[in-house]
Amino acid sequence: MKVLVTGAAGFIGSYISRALINRGDDVIGIDNFDDYYPRKSKEFNLDLVYLIAEGSVKYLPENETMPVFEKINSFLQADTRLRSRDIKGKFVFEEGNMIDEGFVRKSFEKNKPDAVIHLAAKAGVPSSLRDPTGYVKTNMVGTANLIEACRDLGIKKFVFGSSSTVYGNREDRKIHEDDDILHPESPYGATKVGGEIFCYTASKVYGIKTTVCRIIGPIYGPLQRQYGMFMQRAINFTFNDREISIYGKKGLETSKNSTYIDDLVYGLLLCLDYDKNFDVFNIGSGEAQKISDWIGEIEKAMGKKVKYTVVEADKGDVGSSVDIAKAQKILGYNPAMQLSQGVKRQVETFLLMPDWYKNQKTV
Ligand SMILES: NC(=O)c1ccc[n+]([C@@H]2O[C@H](COP(=O)([O-])OP(=O)(O)OC[C@H]3O[C@@H](n4cnc5c(N)ncnc54)[C@H](O)[C@@H]3O)[C@@H](O)[C@H]2O)c1
Repeated sequence: MKVLVTGAAGFIGSYISRALINRGDDVIGIDNFDDYYPRKSKEFNLDLVYLIAEGSVKYLPENETMPVFEKINSFLQADTRLRSRDIKGKFVFEEGNMIDEGFVRKSFEKNKPDAVIHLAAKAGVPSSLRDPTGYVKTNMVGTANLIEACRDLGIKKFVFGSSSTVYGNREDRKIHEDDDILHPESPYGATKVGGEIFCYTASKVYGIKTTVCRIIGPIYGPLQRQYGMFMQRAINFTFNDREISIYGKKGLETSKNSTYIDDLVYGLLLCLDYDKNFDVFNIGSGEAQKISDWIGEIEKAMGKKVKYTVVEADKGDVGSSVDIAKAQKILGYNPAMQLSQGVKRQVETFLLMPDWYKNQKTV
């Protein structure tokens, strides 16, 4: 199968691209290297995809990429659900903006994908409060452009990377997919609801099989994006002897539903292979962990204390716990990673990275 992955240079997009290539699918990656975080990190991500597909790099010197690649590759091989097949798929990458209809159309016409996994987005809750219309353009107009191209070129499968932020904060009970009213508490969450609704319409009106994957983040693991992600920031700050701020109404007791990247990638593959006209799945660990647990694991893996101060909760922060029973029952989904093991891999990878990465300023 030929799969077009949007956001392929990003954290999750590069992982799913590698997993698809590993199972023999061809991948067309699209990304505009938006300026949310440095281009070099995204080029590094892409080089790891090229190494899987072609055995060589395209952007950075091999001696920067290879040691990390070897380590990450062994992590990927360790998960039997993502284990590689003998025949690897091919990788094509195109730099461009999904808001640009002409670019999207040309790329679809040239590459003729069978399916789309749509992960490109302006991500991050706090920055969406500063730039709501920018989020609407990228996340809603961009999604609509992709769906229109699917309709016109007869592409019949679309997986949408949504987010648990569509639910808003519901600390009173577990959240499941069939809650009929979504209460996003940030512009980012609102744009994801918009994308989901367009997916539903596309399935009804255009007959495109769309599966909404509500990604229950934060997604963590090696090379987690350094921006807007507590875990990677805490690792970076601890490495650089800096103090980190903890946002959350309950301070260290605040809980989050963190999910290891391979568990998400496995869920995305199940969503891709799922054949129903329209459906929505929560994909995540299904377990909330306290920030104090994360800090404990980071300290263990780094052999160093994490310095922090607790400040007030961010607007739009989601602390609810999310039910994954539907994905378990229908897709046969089961997350496998233990927090301690996942954090250890993330820290080990961070320490393997070149200085430009370790010294990167993060927000
Ligand atoms: N990481 C998480 O914890 C998490 C949680 C819930 C949902 N998600 C969703 O998963 C997806 C991927 O997240 P990520 O953590 O990998 O983020 P990321 O920022 O690393 O990746 C997103 C990629 O999309 C690209 N992009 C942005 N605007 C674009 C445009 N107009 N045209 C083409 N490419 C564009 C960016 O350059 C980036 O490489 C996003 O849709 C995000 O909303 C992520």
